[in-house]
Amino acid sequence: GLVNTREMFKKAMEGKYAIPAYNFNNLEQLQAIIQACVETRSPVILQVSKGARQYANATMLRYMAMGAVEYAKELGYEIPIALHLDHGDSFELCKACVDNGFSSVMIDGSHLPFEENIEITRKVVEYAHQFDVTVEGELGVLAGIEEDVKAEKSHYTNPDEVEEFVERTGVDSLAISIGTSHGAYKFKVKPGEQVPPLRFDILEEIERRLPGFPIVLHGASSVIPEYVELINKYGGNLEGAVGVPEDQLRKAATSAVCKINIDSDGRLAFTAKVREFLWNNPKEFDPRKYLKPAREELVKMYKHKNINVLGSANKA
Ligand code: G3H
Ligand code: 13P
Ligand code: NA
Ligand code: ZN
Repeated sequence: GLVNTREMFKKAMEGKYAIPAYNFNNLEQLQAIIQACVETRSPVILQVSKGARQYANATMLRYMAMGAVEYAKELGYEIPIALHLDHGDSFELCKACVDNGFSSVMIDGSHLPFEENIEITRKVVEYAHQFDVTVEGELGVLAGIEEDVKAEKSHYTNPDEVEEFVERTGVDSLAISIGTSHGAYKFKVKPGEQVPPLRFDILEEIERRLPGFPIVLHGASSVIPEYVELINKYGGNLEGAVGVPEDQLRKAATSAVCKINIDSDGRLAFTAKVREFLWNNPKEFDPRKYLKPAREELVKMYKHKNINVLGSANKA
């Protein structure tokens, strides 16, 4: 069955790698994630956002994730699979997911004042732990897509707050803000210009305050240029799309960062291949025809992440 993240994180911490946390909203994304993780022998966290739940229906998603466990076995190798709520924004939503068979939830109180963040996070932990469901909390606000992260120091996680937060909430992992952001436009840079490096100094200080405690990195897509170029070539317009360089993520994966969240790279790979196929095959209208190459590209992309970026391959 589905497992929580406790054992995964313990091993990732000891082995100096990170568990992939891939978002899914539909069948093809889920199939690709499972195939890639089985073929690379990687544990995986399947992430469902509030939006995914609204899009695909909570019951459907639950049975899809349970089906994914069976599908992995059919593919010939059993891997640990967690089903995780991404960015839960209320106690009620987290409770609904716990009640619905999720093995892990995130309560994202990062926009709240410190005391309120502690209060809501502790409430979720108290409920979830009764069912052995692990909880991720967050401190620090990821930069918005329009902001210049270099100038937004106040949004980074304050290392002075992490011990008290973890102690008073009882969370199992902590998402932090060290310069990543969500979506495909993470940094404002001119073409060819380097993006600002992640704040590894803040990460190191957090590790010093919370020795051996699992840290989570959101907004960790690389916005792979090859996909952006394909999308733009075949009728799209993603001018200025830029992500976190892979070497930064590789470095983060060897630290206390035990979970790395990737959604946008999957969306880009999928869209690139659908656009390319439809552009080159204007007479095709069977969704399987254009979803298949998209799904195949996803498998390739996720395998690459597991093997070359996160270091999670052969850890299952
Ligand atoms: O952190 C956000 C994730 O990429 C999920 O995005 O809310 O559009 O499903 P979504
Ligand atoms: P990306 O938009 O960088 O893929 O981040 C995904 C994420 O953090 C999901 O919680
Ligand atoms: Na790690
Ligand atoms: Zn996120």
